[in-house]
Amino acid sequence: SRSLNLAVIPGDGIGTEVVTEGLKVLDAVLTGTDVKVGSTTYDLGARRWHATGETLPDSVLEELRGHNAILLGAVGDPDVPSGVLERGLLLRLRFELDHYVNLRPSRLFPGVTTPLANPGEIDFVVVREGTEGPYVGNGGALRVGTPHEVANEVSVNTAFGVERVVRDAFARAQARPRRKLTYVHKHNVLVHAGHLWRRTVERVGQEFPEVAVDYLHVDAATIFFVTDPGRFDVIVTDNLFGDILTDLAAAITGGIGLAASGNVNPDRTAPSMFEPVHGSAPDIAGQGVADPTATVLSVSLLLDHLGLTEQAARITDAVAADLGERGTSTRRTADIGDALAARVTA
Ligand code: NAD
Ligand code: IPM
Ligand code: MN
Repeated sequence: SRSLNLAVIPGDGIGTEVVTEGLKVLDAVLTGTDVKVGSTTYDLGARRWHATGETLPDSVLEELRGHNAILLGAVGDPDVPSGVLERGLLLRLRFELDHYVNLRPSRLFPGVTTPLANPGEIDFVVVREGTEGPYVGNGGALRVGTPHEVANEVSVNTAFGVERVVRDAFARAQARPRRKLTYVHKHNVLVHAGHLWRRTVERVGQEFPEVAVDYLHVDAATIFFVTDPGRFDVIVTDNLFGDILTDLAAAITGGIGLAASGNVNPDRTAPSMFEPVHGSAPDIAGQGVADPTATVLSVSLLLDHLGLTEQAARITDAVAADLGERGTSTRRTADIGDALAARVTA
């Protein structure tokens, strides 16, 4: 038998609602197996910040390192200044735990409504760099609030950081049937970072001769997401482009309520963290109407990462069957969770 030691961070807004359902499905899929889950819930987010001023105490960060994986709901709250929780909690976790592969798969499940007239077959994965780019906080402002204000956010791209994520993306492309990698940047304008990415893809690509490589400027990539998403297999891109493209990817495959992600540390020097792509959705929080499917699919990614591939597949099959039968209708959060839990048990 095997035991799984999970850290759970429900966070803010709909985060707590969707995590409840994700854990329901996790328990259900492991029932009757020899895998035992133990979980510790961490109170982090807006409530704690209001009460104590803390976003992520060092002691909690150290405790998190002792778990096999982390499941996170969402962070961010209208009553907390924008950026405090996003940077101090979520990004700090991604950086400290070295989640350099932000894995965001997109699949158009049969039965799901898409805004695209001709969607074709959509089944791609975005490998979004997770520890660098404009996210690192390298910048600053001068003469704030004056007509002469200067505000800089410097994108940091290191040879080490770009190479490791590009190599991971090539390996993922190599393992998929279509063996295609599209790298997305803007090297016609961002010549410093863009050319580092281009040279890195060219060099690492020599180790993967079977993978076909394609390049798109990020603006053109948004066109193809809408007009021909079937052309994509694996996409690798920087932190900010990847953030924007994956909300678009969610929108064309049934909406943000279905989009799952893994913040992966491929070297396994720290636990990886799984979370829906969406945020805390203050506009619908507390109403019991958030779609928990993205979180359930994130649980599937979590199990896959831990080598429980059969259980992971049972969850994606259950989601596919559920969407096939009922589509993304107006069901309540708990109804969707219950239906998925029942399907993975049966
Ligand atoms: P959001 O993803 O929270 O919401 C965008 C829209 O999608 C809203 O209309 C919301 O109701 C809807 N939506 C989101 N998740 C849904 C679900 N599961 N089911 C149904 N509808 C859903 O993005 P936002 O409004 O830009 O940000 C709100 C807060 O969340 C901000 O504080 C932001 O910083 C934070 N945020 C956090 C994360 C994260 O924790 N990973 C991600 C994005 C945004
Ligand atoms: C996401 C979110 C985060 C990001 C924010 C909340 C820091 O938008 O997970 O996509 O930009 O990565
Ligand atoms: Mn985002």
